[in-house]
Amino acid sequence: MKNNVKEVLISYDELQKKIKEIGKKITRDYEGKELMLVGVLKGAFMFLGDLAKNIEIPLTIDFMAVSSYGNSTESSGVVRILKDLEGSIEGKDILLVEDIIDTGLTLNYLVNNLKSRGAASVKICTLLDKPERRLINLELAYKGFDIPDEFVVGYGIDFAEGYRNLSDICILKEEAYSHLIK
Ligand code: IMP
Ligand code: MG
Repeated sequence: MKNNVKEVLISYDELQKKIKEIGKKITRDYEGKELMLVGVLKGAFMFLGDLAKNIEIPLTIDFMAVSSYGNSTESSGVVRILKDLEGSIEGKDILLVEDIIDTGLTLNYLVNNLKSRGAASVKICTLLDKPERRLINLELAYKGFDIPDEFVVGYGIDFAEGYRNLSDICILKEEAYSHLIK
């Protein structure tokens, strides 16, 4: 698996350092609120686990799974909910936890969807951001790292369901995926 890695973009240690900082900010900002972390499956599962350990106030956790219509490389903005939240979020302060924001269309849909269910607030916490690719203006309350427009894997993030178990955020060698996208 590691033979297919061109370079480590962000190491596990750098990730942990940044996640500690984000956890401290969230702890401060959500003191006294009814915080619920909503992880966007599957890519955010590792990030959500490490983030939750670094937040020192009571919270609850739920997950959503979504898929966007259209082909696999271009996000269409029309989102299908594959797994929904278990209960009502009325009055809760929702923090959407995402792996990467690319065009922003998926998260824009989710924010509006959750707001319409009566949440007290809906904010975004993303580990990675590709600002060059953004198609829609999104307010990112918490962000780990800006990254260039490269395809990354690891730390929960996949290519064709593989590589999620790498501990670092890595850039793949082109030969590892070129045969699959043609
Ligand atoms: P968008 O912001 O609606 O375009 O979609 C963002 C989603 O696309 C992320 O949650 C990822 O699932 C996926 N994605 C975007 N860039 C990458 C990447 O470099 N590697 C793996 N998945 C990616
Ligand atoms: Mg995702």
